[in-house]
Amino acid sequence: MAFLDKHKSIETHATLLAVLSLVVVAIGGIVEIAPLFYIQNTIEKVQGVRPYTPLELAGRDIYIREGCYVCHSQMIRPMRDEVERYGHYSLAAESMYDHPFQWGSKRTGPDLARVGGRYSDAWHVDHLTNPQAVVPESVMPKYSYLLRATVDGEHIAQIMSTHAMVGVPYTSDMIDNAVADFAAQANPDGDTSGLEARYGRVTLSNFDGQSQLTEMDALIAYLQVLGTMVDFSTFQPDPTR
Ligand code: HEC
Repeated sequence: MAFLDKHKSIETHATLLAVLSLVVVAIGGIVEIAPLFYIQNTIEKVQGVRPYTPLELAGRDIYIREGCYVCHSQMIRPMRDEVERYGHYSLAAESMYDHPFQWGSKRTGPDLARVGGRYSDAWHVDHLTNPQAVVPESVMPKYSYLLRATVDGEHIAQIMSTHAMVGVPYTSDMIDNAVADFAAQANPDGDTSGLEARYGRVTLSNFDGQSQLTEMDALIAYLQVLGTMVDFSTFQPDPTR
């Protein structure tokens, strides 16, 4: 066939083959890369996503420190079995303020992307203290020492400033009031108006049930906000994407 004869001349000339291969790869590259310069953002804008409060952010650091991501993912894929088990699939916007993101790659335990509000604070205290007391067959380690590790938000303002440097919209008002907001979230009887004015919808609770502020409070504050920022009863995916 005439076409195959022409192709033979390409295959038998190494330089011509290399040049034409490069052209083909370059076209593929342009098709993938060029649109990124024309769209404003690869993350669709979604109502409700806000930066973590100081206490939630500290809880997130404990989550990372304890290696919870080794056994838990935080990304629900848009597949029917996942959506039925865990809830609405994860949106890019939901982890846009996560540095680094906690999508994870292993599920020894369930996905935690929407665990917020699924259990009571007391359930989390019992479960984290001794998972086997709640789920006898669980292989999750015990984290009872978090109940004894007190925290005061000593470095939280600096940590928030660092997140601001990489694009999390923490205002100077949020950073200046970080220590007060840190304590306010776990003290629902106190004055929480400043915290709520700065962050909007925030879960206020004495998460661990103890008078002192502990790492357990921070970790549960974080778990309880996971996947709750977007209101999926009103959320509509952008049809242009
Ligand atoms: C060795 C693996 C492992 C590690 C590490 C681990 N978990 Fe788990 N986790 C599990 C397993 C397995 C389950 C399911 C059984 C159960 O509920 O205990 C689970 C369940 C959970 C649940 C309940 C989820 C649901 O939807 O029912 C939460 C919340 C949770 N883990 C939080 C954490 C946190 C926070 C950390 C870190 C402090 C952590 N886990 C560390 C294995 C692990």
